[in-house]
Amino acid sequence: MTFSKILATGAYLPEKILTNQDLTQYFDTSDEWIRTRTGIEQRHIAAKDQSSTDLAYLAALDALESANLNARELDLIIVATSTAEHHFPSNASQLQHRLGCRNIAAFDIQAVCSGFVYALNIADNFIRAKQAKRVLVVGAELFSNVLDWSDRGTAILFGDGAGACILEASSTPGIHGSVLHADGEQKELLWIPNGIGSPACQRQTRSPHIHMQGREVFKVAVRTLANLVNELLESCQISIEDIDFLVPHQANLRIIKSTAEHLKLPMEKVIVTVNKHANTSAASVPLALDYAIKNKIIKRGDNLILEAFGGGFTWGGSIITY
Ligand code: UT7
Repeated sequence: MTFSKILATGAYLPEKILTNQDLTQYFDTSDEWIRTRTGIEQRHIAAKDQSSTDLAYLAALDALESANLNARELDLIIVATSTAEHHFPSNASQLQHRLGCRNIAAFDIQAVCSGFVYALNIADNFIRAKQAKRVLVVGAELFSNVLDWSDRGTAILFGDGAGACILEASSTPGIHGSVLHADGEQKELLWIPNGIGSPACQRQTRSPHIHMQGREVFKVAVRTLANLVNELLESCQISIEDIDFLVPHQANLRIIKSTAEHLKLPMEKVIVTVNKHANTSAASVPLALDYAIKNKIIKRGDNLILEAFGGGFTWGGSIITY
């Protein structure tokens, strides 16, 4: 049987750091409020001339270097993003060209903050179906472009960045199993209304910014993630005692703690980067994973739960032996 395993990870965070204190120049807020309610201390913000493809490219280079792999050895590229550089072509096809790959398939997927876990599951299925042996999966986001910098309810939460992962075919798992879900009913709780494909009359009043009812999203996220981790453990037939680390989506430290409490996992077994990165949407899980691997917190053989929840709503995760 063929499984997929993580060969290497990579990351890129833009140089510019915006602290909570810096945000007080845009609206009425405080470092204390943001830290207490979210756990966030700072976020990285892309330079004016950087695109989400640039961020993806730099994270991909880092992953290829860590894997000691030439880009020509890849069979597929999937980029998870909801802040693509162009409406089309995809960031993935631009990345394929810039990395100098063969004419391998490359496409973007859009599942907002769950984008990376969606992409990882798709990549795993390509490998299990023997349609690819090595897949580059990237989560790349430039959320600073879609924030309303006068809205303290959303602008404090997000940051820019990209994380990458190279999956390779293996005779042992690797990825034990994944679970994906979506529910479009409550789209207005977290959305950017009226995109390029909306009716012309609505496009006139197009808002390019994120709108979020934070308190409502918070409640749905806590409830949904508790159910998700139960479903993952059950579907993979793995007990929580066998899990070494939870690598959660980094939206809010209180949401992360609630999932950890639900699982009865001590916080030492939870990877937290939301304090330094804020919410980088599809980049958040691979950035947290890369941080923990590069800092030798997660080691070969460790069992991990990856999970995410975001706009759509979408949610999902995987159980992995690194
Ligand atoms: O990736 C998944 C997507 N997003 C999320 O998971 C986000 C989920 N939601 C959250 O993380 C939290 O709901 C927030 C951090 C966004 C907000 O925290 P909260 O504890 O739910 O606060 P709230 O929205 O209920 O607001 C409480 C108070 C309000 O004032 P009043 O009405 O009580 O006087 C807000 O106006 O805090 C006020 N407030 C702020 N004050 C200082 C809201 N934002 C700020 C701010 N600074 N930045």
